[in-house]
Amino acid sequence: MRDLLIRGRVLTFLKEPQGIDDTASYRFIEDGAVFVRSGKIVHIGPYVDVAKQAGPDTEVADHRPHLVLPGLIDTHLHFPQTQAIASYGAQLLEWLNTYIFVEEQKFKAPEHAAFIAGRFMDELLSNGTTTAAAYCSVHPESVDAFFAAAEERDMLMIGGKVMMDRNAPDALQDTSQKGYDETKALIARWHGRGRAHYAITPRFAITSTPEQMEMSRALAAEHPDCYVQTHLSENRDEITFATSLYPEAKDYTDIYARYELLGRKTLLGHCIHLSDREISALAETEAVGVFCPTSNLFLGSGLFDRDRFDKLGARHAVATDVGAGTSFSMLETMDEAYKVLHLQGQRLSPLNSFYMMTLGNARALDLEDRIGSLHAGADADIVVLDSRAKPAMELRMQVASSLAEELFIVQTMGDDRSVAEVYVAGKPMKCRRRQTKAQAD
Ligand code: GUN
Ligand code: ZN
Repeated sequence: MRDLLIRGRVLTFLKEPQGIDDTASYRFIEDGAVFVRSGKIVHIGPYVDVAKQAGPDTEVADHRPHLVLPGLIDTHLHFPQTQAIASYGAQLLEWLNTYIFVEEQKFKAPEHAAFIAGRFMDELLSNGTTTAAAYCSVHPESVDAFFAAAEERDMLMIGGKVMMDRNAPDALQDTSQKGYDETKALIARWHGRGRAHYAITPRFAITSTPEQMEMSRALAAEHPDCYVQTHLSENRDEITFATSLYPEAKDYTDIYARYELLGRKTLLGHCIHLSDREISALAETEAVGVFCPTSNLFLGSGLFDRDRFDKLGARHAVATDVGAGTSFSMLETMDEAYKVLHLQGQRLSPLNSFYMMTLGNARALDLEDRIGSLHAGADADIVVLDSRAKPAMELRMQVASSLAEELFIVQTMGDDRSVAEVYVAGKPMKCRRRQTKAQAD
């Protein structure tokens, strides 16, 4: 692999911005460059300085006037729901039963799982997302397909087999023992292989018996370096149902706490209707609440209260939650995040948005040494954003006067068309040929 010099308007965050004027929170280099060797960033700085590292064989990718940022990170979505986005008219529990539990049964077939896994990774990449934490289906075959597709592209991905042993169709249920055994085998097969990370994945309290929660506790204790991902407090009917199944728990959060499933590597999707006690329990255990704005609006679930998370010192991240989420684009996701917070009188500055999609989400995953910012030694996962990708954006950009304004335009008006290129471990991926189903067969 030849050395690569990526030239453009380089932007990377150093810390969480404290408002729209916090220029100390990021590094921006108008004529900047990132020097990549063997999939890693070796240097970042002004082009004139970085260019001195280049030899005669160095490949140069000149992306000026586009922005060069760390690859975007999505901390919660469902790969078997790729073909179930835009399923009409229902709130969470009805939506799961009507559409999702039907769709996920298809993933018993390895060919289907492999086909969707490939398309799923390509869709992430064309939206500039280089890392994601995903739920697979209950079938181990779906996890194999997921990690194989990630490995083929050299993507740093987090995933796991959903465990469900009640309140789902028979064809989607494991048992507490089977869920444990299959998860164990998948961890042995995939966790730490290349860039793969495993997430122990009891879907949510409703679809796991106390025995399965007990097994999840054992898995998390036996594999402290794996993530745990589940759902918490998304919908009022869900909360009523979940707490009725665990009457001894103080509240929904306490169900997971009792099984010692709350910890620094725990990702909890949604976290909308939480009491202060529950958010404080997340803060104490350092578990991460995952804000999924397009999903929460689409299913009519409610509004994530970011300011209360901040006030109570709880960690949070942001995600698409495809297929309840309506877009693979983290730009479109932050556009909706802005509106969800605005409705509650909360501000989301464009600096904070871009921080959240990159370094913020990397920190939520404890992966900031590898991804989420451009620094020497980091993996070369990089996105190139075109602020003028659509005629209306070009027109709007004519009167933009600051970097923050430009970022807000990209977030508000941009989508996959704004992603001019994406690099995974230093390899350009945007223009990979997309397979059709017929070609895959
Ligand atoms: N809760 C349990 N499963 C799911 C799911 O697949 N999507 C969403 N949005 N919430 C869930
Ligand atoms: Zn989800």
